[in-house]
Amino acid sequence: MKAAITAVAHNTPETVYDNTWFAERLDTSDEWITTRTGIRETHLRYGIGLTDILLPAAKSVLEQRNLQPSDVDCIIVCTVTADRVFPAAASMLQAKLGAMNAWGFDLAAACSGFLYGVVTAAKLVESGAVRNVLLCGGDMMSSILNFDDRTTCVLFGDGGGAVLIEPSTDGTGIIDHVLRMDGNGEKHLHMVAGGSLKPATVETVNNREHFVFQEGQAVFKSAVKGMADVSYEIMERNNLTGDDVAWLVPHQANLRIIDATAQRMGLTKEKVVVNIDRYGNTTAGTIPICLSELHQQGKVKAGDNVILASFGAGYTWGAVLLRWSISSKDS
Ligand code: UT7
Repeated sequence: MKAAITAVAHNTPETVYDNTWFAERLDTSDEWITTRTGIRETHLRYGIGLTDILLPAAKSVLEQRNLQPSDVDCIIVCTVTADRVFPAAASMLQAKLGAMNAWGFDLAAACSGFLYGVVTAAKLVESGAVRNVLLCGGDMMSSILNFDDRTTCVLFGDGGGAVLIEPSTDGTGIIDHVLRMDGNGEKHLHMVAGGSLKPATVETVNNREHFVFQEGQAVFKSAVKGMADVSYEIMERNNLTGDDVAWLVPHQANLRIIDATAQRMGLTKEKVVVNIDRYGNTTAGTIPICLSELHQQGKVKAGDNVILASFGAGYTWGAVLLRWSISSKDS
């Protein structure tokens, strides 16, 4: 028995901010942002909770499977921007959904959160510990962005998605994974204050330490190598060539990182899901949003080999190979 994604949905705030909005306020330009990152616009809604964004997606995946909230066994929310430091966003989503029989937890692996979550949820289902997992990935990056810092605020967006992970017996589902972590990357990408190491004080607020800190170039170099390496490795050990892979669904941090990964895998551009132009980097939200759009557009068929790949804070990175389980919307 394998575990498979059996339903998928996403949600983002309706309010859209294009590059011009940033260029009117900061020393930046549409040209710089587009050519360096691939981003044209992001969806942002400062001051609402992550679970408010995830709730419609969670309801949608249950509807797609004709399940009631009481049928959910486990909820995992992958995020670094939960509604509160505690309790977990999973608890808050459980209450909003009325999933009274579910247990669950949050998983903090930043941009690789959804990949770590897919593997964790699959193992719970495959072991028989639970019948299903409502797996969500998303981030409200606006809550931790310094809108005076042009090097970070133009990069990120708000949004997320949900999938249902259930048993599969037809050979489709989650086939293999390569997950990695290197904590030495912490110095290049983190939030300075707000944790137990440096709790919030008037000083930390005045020093603007509750925001994303990123040394872009250092992260870029590791991301290009890390994401391409694991994507190539998962193909090689499953004897796949570029022809066998229907879709690469990469984390959307930078179009140049995505292109380098696709090139290493021998994939043509048509097989690579890109929506960074419309959403920016929604951290744990990028991959479920991509999967949801791919399915909605009827572009992915049951049986297709799909590779998910990510790189992010931690550092955390990885690749997951799955054989798509949901019938195409067109079939
Ligand atoms: O998802 C989590 C993991 N994160 C990532 O994967 C992000 C990886 N890093 C990147 O995507 C890229 O490094 C960035 C998009 C963040 C930056 O692109 P870059 O080509 O590496 O630029 P840079 O940081 O080397 O900066 C080049 C120049 C600098 O100016 P000087 O020092 O050459 O005068 C920056 O100050 O561009 C400047 N710059 C900007 N200029 C206009 C930085 N941000 C901006 C901006 N507008 N928004």
